[in-house]
Amino acid sequence: MTRIAIYPGSFDPPTKGHEDLIRRSLALCDRLVVAVAINIAKEPLFTVEERVALLETTCGDDPRIQVVTFDGLLADFAKGVQATFIVRGLRAVSDFEYEFQMALMNRQLHPSLDTVFMVPPVDLTFLSSSLVREVARFGGDVTPFVHPEVARALARKFSR
Ligand code: PNS
Repeated sequence: MTRIAIYPGSFDPPTKGHEDLIRRSLALCDRLVVAVAINIAKEPLFTVEERVALLETTCGDDPRIQVVTFDGLLADFAKGVQATFIVRGLRAVSDFEYEFQMALMNRQLHPSLDTVFMVPPVDLTFLSSSLVREVARFGGDVTPFVHPEVARALARKFSR
């Protein structure tokens, strides 16, 4: 049986934390669907097409990884692609409550859908897409935190 996992998120932009989690997830599944949310609460910096392209550049070279977009309920989309579990990253205790609620709600919506939490390397625990956006917005160096292509895309966004 092919084990399919889904890794959903905003990926605005993808960071080295996301890349790490994608690589780790491949040990648990045969196929990983990286699902980029179209409708996220805040206005994204990158369009959904740009986020998909950045993810494909950073980790799309592995044939087990497929980068797609999704709209609507994650639980429905996950079932549609026959995923048996959702992968999410837990960086700190502060992530826990939101992630716990989401995991339970997703399982309520589709009882066979479980969520697997993974932790990043300790030196990336502070990292988030929103911090990366802020550092880039004010001209800081984001190269330790993102793939070079993402750093270039951020520089283009914020070039004055
Ligand atoms: O990277 P993020 O922003 O933390 O990802 C959050 C995301 C996109 C995974 C979450 O908001 C989501 O699943 N949105 C789709 C709508 C949905 O299913 N909402 C109910 C979740 S219980």
